[in-house]
Amino acid sequence: MSALTAERPAASQGRGTPLVSLRNIQKHFGSLHALRGASVEVYPGEIVALVGDNGAGKSTLVKVMAGVHAADSGEYLFEGKPVTVKKPTDATALGIQTVYQDLSLCSNLDAVQNLYLGREVTGSWWGGGRIKRAECEVRARELLTRMRLGNLSLTRPVGAMSGGQRQNIAIARSILETPKVVILDEPTAALSHSAAEGVSTLIRTLADQGLGIVIVSHDIHHFVVNATDRIEVMRLGANCASFKSKDVTGEQVVNAMVGGNEGVNLAG
Ligand SMILES: Nc1ncnc2c1ncn2[C@@H]1O[C@H](COP(=O)(O)OP(=O)(O)OP(=O)(O)O)[C@@H](O)[C@H]1O
Ligand SMILES: [Mg+2]
Repeated sequence: MSALTAERPAASQGRGTPLVSLRNIQKHFGSLHALRGASVEVYPGEIVALVGDNGAGKSTLVKVMAGVHAADSGEYLFEGKPVTVKKPTDATALGIQTVYQDLSLCSNLDAVQNLYLGREVTGSWWGGGRIKRAECEVRARELLTRMRLGNLSLTRPVGAMSGGQRQNIAIARSILETPKVVILDEPTAALSHSAAEGVSTLIRTLADQGLGIVIVSHDIHHFVVNATDRIEVMRLGANCASFKSKDVTGEQVVNAMVGGNEGVNLAG
């Protein structure tokens, strides 16, 4: 199919209602108008890339989705129904988890400890409320196997792991609560090509299990065009183009980012 054929992306065809839909979002930081009518939606099983130049508003938009920033105005729909998301716990209660770029992992702790940090499986209070390490380990192994990460060490401090392995543990941590949507802000920024491919495989595994994935990335030529289903391009706080990933080249996406391709919508 030609990249110039305007139609809905395959990933959202016949899938009913988007899991999350943000429409016409406005956001100011003081006098700075960061989002000027920005929109993004994700369907079950779909991987949506949010791209754009530095300062285009990508992180701000996903932070509105994650409840970190409250929008000044605009619509926020979850599974088709208007919802109020003004703080991170509003988003997590809906089943929206976010993996931040700093990963928020503790380097001196191992994978199991990081996965269960703050939500350990504890015994009864009369037993001292001790962390049931063995049970956490079994659950962690099950989770990692489901994510096809069965080879990751459960006992090495994550500080001794590679960037790609740490990224995978951060993603696994976001999956523990069985979310419906996972947001990743620049997950491949500091990764080697092969580690970024590992993240691609992982998010596809999750999408195949029905999750919606929203991913911010600057790695247009490799990651974005190859590992996602749909690409939303942002410029100056608004959407300026939309592409089906499989029908577009990196050059076309970059052109749209820098303004060479006004108002393109090839994703329907
Ligand atoms: N907490 C904040 N306070 C004030 N201004 C902010 C804040 N967060 C973002 N901005 C501003 O809003 C605009 C959009 O920033 P945002 O971080 O969303 O861009 P981005 O597309 O994620 O860029 P990058 O690719 O560099 O990460 C920028 O002008 C930025 O300086
Ligand atoms: Mg950003």
